[in-house]
Amino acid sequence: MSLQSRNSHIDLLLTTADAPDPVIGGLLSDPDATEELSAAAHQVRIARKGSHTKQRGLIEITNRCLNNCLYCGIRAANRTLERYTLSHNEIVAAAKYAYSQGMRTFVLQGGENPAVTDTMVTDVVRELKRTMPDAAVTLSLGERPYDIYRTWREAGADRYLLRHETYNPAHYRSLHPAAMNRENRLRCLDDLTALGYRVGTGFLVGSPGQQLSHIIEDLRFIQLLNPGMIGIGPFIPAANTPFADHKAGDVGLTLRCVAILRLMNPDADIPATTALATLGGPDAQQKALCGGANVVMPKFTPPDARELYHLY
Ligand code: 5AD
Repeated sequence: MSLQSRNSHIDLLLTTADAPDPVIGGLLSDPDATEELSAAAHQVRIARKGSHTKQRGLIEITNRCLNNCLYCGIRAANRTLERYTLSHNEIVAAAKYAYSQGMRTFVLQGGENPAVTDTMVTDVVRELKRTMPDAAVTLSLGERPYDIYRTWREAGADRYLLRHETYNPAHYRSLHPAAMNRENRLRCLDDLTALGYRVGTGFLVGSPGQQLSHIIEDLRFIQLLNPGMIGIGPFIPAANTPFADHKAGDVGLTLRCVAILRLMNPDADIPATTALATLGGPDAQQKALCGGANVVMPKFTPPDARELYHLY
């Protein structure tokens, strides 16, 4: 694509809510567009979100999961992994330490683990909100029934992260076991929105079988959902998963997705994710922060547990 048509494509993204597929697809597939896209996204980020980079303290509360997402290192069928679940007190202590380090948002993330009972989460949320009322609590604990989401919201949870992973139905089926379904995941996102959570979603870039058209579907879905937060990262092949031998997602493509997401969702919070830093190094994370992203999520998981939380 010529410099001129790149710039007119970027202008279209800046000025219209529904740029045609070939415009988005053309930019996504052009490695030479990365720098200009990132520069335009950085300008929008500065104008709408300011230059400050927000920090969110991530606490990985359990690596036990009853699901079997084909890409995920903590899937139930991975028997090689030592499993852990933090106790109530360990989670609260990690959050207090994060608070002492300046964090004013905690993200409690974990697999779908029945041992992390609804009551335990409720109690932890209550205690965090009682002892640190100026901090926001974000949960990222997978698909749950409406009533559980409501209980946690009433206990004080402010936000919820649940990536849709891929919007395309056939692609979704190819990444997940038959026991999971996309409709339930989308139902969860609707429930969370209806309950007044600030919702985050997102997708994997470069997951096996992903087509450019799938990414365009993801981008359009996100724009329609209009979430408060959008987290994306490159797929990284994880050991002891069915996708262990697949190739990783592309860092440049991920950066173009981050930039396009910023142009399409100027007010969303967009993290420079750990997966991006793992695959592309600190340099890639920095590029995301100068290309539309405005959030980082440092880990406050206790060190022993952190060693065992291998999504990839
Ligand atoms: N590579 C990159 N990201 C992954 N996730 C899970 N497994 C992988 C992987 N192999 C992401 C999913 C999930 C988030 C917590 O981690 O998108 O929503």
